Amino acid sequence: MTHQYKGILLAGGTGSRLYPLTSSISKQLLPIYNKPMIYYSLSVLMLAGIHEILIISTPHDTPKIKDHFGDGSQLGLKLSYEVQDAPNGIAEAFLIGESFIQDSPVALMLGDNIFYGNQFTKLLQEATQSTDGATLFAYPVKDPERFGVVTFDDQLNATSLEEKPKNPQSKFAVTGLYFYDNNVVNITKALKPSDRGELEITDVNKAYLAKNQCSVKVLGRGFTWMDTGTYESLFTAAEFVRNVEHRQNYKVACLEEIAFNNGWISKDTLSNQINQVPNQYADYLKEIMS
Ligand code: TTP
Repeated sequence: MTHQYKGILLAGGTGSRLYPLTSSISKQLLPIYNKPMIYYSLSVLMLAGIHEILIISTPHDTPKIKDHFGDGSQLGLKLSYEVQDAPNGIAEAFLIGESFIQDSPVALMLGDNIFYGNQFTKLLQEATQSTDGATLFAYPVKDPERFGVVTFDDQLNATSLEEKPKNPQSKFAVTGLYFYDNNVVNITKALKPSDRGELEITDVNKAYLAKNQCSVKVLGRGFTWMDTGTYESLFTAAEFVRNVEHRQNYKVACLEEIAFNNGWISKDTLSNQINQVPNQYADYLKEIMS
């Protein structure tokens, strides 16, 4: 078994809450201020130091995403693509990705999640240090019934997990970023679809919890986590990114910047990209290089 994490970015789904925006395009290709939504999730895997990534999307959208990123070499990535024929659940990613995962541990990132906060890279790197069991992240929300919900004991050990509970036992939602050891494939193979007909990621997590192998890190109140699946959250996320970028003059989820800082691409590669897009984004990349 290797210890180098691979990444899966799940970017399919129906996007029904965003109709008609999503009637002809994946929500993951919709803009969040100045970048496609998928940039934000891809940036998380890159910040975790993961460069071998499988992108899974719908039959309709996978070619578009592939068109955008190609083999990923311009970002120092090794990208591959698979299609999910229907939205059969988040955990199906591990069945579709089985031959990609091989004997590696794997991080799964949902294409409609945005994470932003201090020390996040450190947290990600810590998560990749562990290649036994599962590492999840929890975030306090006002509407936990929309999410997978986790409860904790006094020592902040996870004690239960429940998918979209009617009466949530805590305010902590499980976010769309998951780190698993290689057993995740076999655990998923043993799952049955839920009443709503999906292979549930919460059932995968429950299997780890039952073995006492599920570590859940709480993201504090200074941290921002958003899923961008509704009109409101799409708009709020765009405002958030705009505010941060205007105020600090740092870009959120600038993939070229992360690749360059990770030492994955050279100045030459970055210059080539700058020459292709003569706009403010390119001006920012020029600043990074100098
Ligand atoms: P969801 O928000 O659960 O669903 P959705 O994107 O289909 O949107 P809606 O509820 O509005 O119809 O999906 C969370 C993320 O996981 C999102 O990035 C899409 C992705 N996803 C898949 O790629 N395949 C799936 O089978 C499911 C359930 C989700």
